[in-house]
Amino acid sequence: MKKIVLFASGSGSNVENIVNYFKKNETVEIIKVYTNNPKAYVIERCGKLGLPCSIFSRKEFVENLAVLDELKTLKPDLIVLAGFLWLIPKAYVEAFPKQIINIHPALLPKYGGKGMYGSHVHKAVVANNEVESGITIHYVNDKYDEGQVIKQVKCSITREDCADDVAEKVHQLEYSHFPATINEILN
Ligand code: GAR
Repeated sequence: MKKIVLFASGSGSNVENIVNYFKKNETVEIIKVYTNNPKAYVIERCGKLGLPCSIFSRKEFVENLAVLDELKTLKPDLIVLAGFLWLIPKAYVEAFPKQIINIHPALLPKYGGKGMYGSHVHKAVVANNEVESGITIHYVNDKYDEGQVIKQVKCSITREDCADDVAEKVHQLEYSHFPATINEILN
């Protein structure tokens, strides 16, 4: 059995989609969700999905590395960042080489880096009159959005699209491609 741990900071619609995708899979198990945000809707989703969800502080994540210690005990095959907004400290990357992946809601290296998340990305894409955007699934290193790219998928943007329209198109790409890519990585 391959074990996956998910990290999320917000709504968690990707978390729910990934959990549903693997529900009937007998070789892959989502064992736990972690969040840094005590107000994140993902906590409620986990309750409904019957999935353990742990809330951690910056101190536990970055200073005393309690989260890392727990991960070392859990021994996940893959750590998936699904809308997680904190930088991953180097100690995690070193402990789980090529075992941490992230999804970014744009075509990196464009629209990446600190502060570039969620609606900020889509607003910038529209402001720059881009004709396409998309998703990037990549390995995580200790810099924002700079790890090796695993997969990119594009969508087109029309002149009429506002940031919310782009967000919707990008979310649909995430739902279609993220779980399947996770499955490919594990196999
Ligand atoms: C997703 O679009 C994901 O790509 C993005 O946050 C959203 C989370 O949505 N991640 C980033 O911006 C990371 N820099 P969700 O909470 O509904 O899954």
